[in-house]
Amino acid sequence: MKRILVTGGAGFIGSHFVKKLCTYSSDFEKVDTHIVVYDKLTYAGDLKRLEGVPHIFVHGDICDGERLNAVLRKYGITHVVHFAAESHVDRSIADQAPFMRTNVLGTEVLIETVDRFWRETGGYEHRQFIHISTDEVYGSILQSEKPASETTPLNPMNPYAVSKAKADALVQHKIKRDHFPALILRSSNNYGLNQNAEKFIPRIINCLVNNHPIPVYGKGAQMRCWLSVEDYAEIICELIRLELIGEIFNVVGEETYSNIDMVMKIIEIFGQSVSRPTERQPEITFVPDRAQHDFYYHVDGSKLKCLIGERYFKRRLENYFMELFLTASV
Ligand SMILES: NC(=O)c1ccc[n+]([C@@H]2O[C@H](COP(=O)([O-])OP(=O)(O)OC[C@H]3O[C@@H](n4cnc5c(N)ncnc54)[C@H](O)[C@@H]3O)[C@@H](O)[C@H]2O)c1
Repeated sequence: MKRILVTGGAGFIGSHFVKKLCTYSSDFEKVDTHIVVYDKLTYAGDLKRLEGVPHIFVHGDICDGERLNAVLRKYGITHVVHFAAESHVDRSIADQAPFMRTNVLGTEVLIETVDRFWRETGGYEHRQFIHISTDEVYGSILQSEKPASETTPLNPMNPYAVSKAKADALVQHKIKRDHFPALILRSSNNYGLNQNAEKFIPRIINCLVNNHPIPVYGKGAQMRCWLSVEDYAEIICELIRLELIGEIFNVVGEETYSNIDMVMKIIEIFGQSVSRPTERQPEITFVPDRAQHDFYYHVDGSKLKCLIGERYFKRRLENYFMELFLTASV
């Protein structure tokens, strides 16, 4: 049985992963698990996301080595999936300190505490640490340029991305120096239910539903690749089942839109699925762009797709929006 510690499991992606893990079974076998969620419950964490999902919850900070150590020992943790982070770029531009603390120092404390525990209790065999990084560590790469592969040097352009690149580099160093059994995943933007209201898609939907103007940075020309959070959760489950370590994978969504096209798409689907005869047409407000707003993350996801197959990238944005608006679960 695998005993998995999920840091940041009360957050958006972490909670989808915990839910998926409870039921995941591939063509070959079920992933048999015992799940411990470790979360500080910042403004971004919410235990409602885990209601009805079997897990043990521990309230804790990843910067607190003593508490982590006690949890690792108490539950005999064999696997760690590390989602916990400060994750919102705009907040990092306003104040980068919490990002450096949690994303960099927190990751360092976590890997060193886990490493000590595993070394003291039999070594690295059948142990796995999955570090959740991001495609933002590559910085902006245009469609006309060669896409970033896993060996492309990191070039982060905002404080959030800098903190994630530092954490990513710490894990890489640990793999190279100590053969620490870690895997690094750099995914594109995720979409799905229960994302924090401050993020791009929930913000558009909330404005639309409440008849508020929809704010768009600059002219909305920035391009983003979108990945279903449920597909991502399934991919992580599969990588646990495969017991892969020592690798870096880009996890690239299949659907790419400019921000303004995404807004138009959501407006179109919302209009098709809701009858609003008395309401006015949605209004878009263009607001001054962020400094150094990355234009596009042109990233090559073929390494992972060759390994596990295209079938893990199956969900579509359009279906997600249809379902969301038709069931009025926004
Ligand atoms: N959301 C995306 O589109 C996306 C894309 C690529 C990578 N990522 C990465 O995926 C991970 C999860 O992202 P998300 O969108 O679910 O984030 P989120 O902000 O929704 O959740 C973060 C979780 O971490 C917890 N947390 C924060 N600081 C903590 C600390 N010091 N100790 C313990 N817990 C702490 C929060 O309470 C919250 O539950 C992050 O590492 C993020 O960088 C996210």
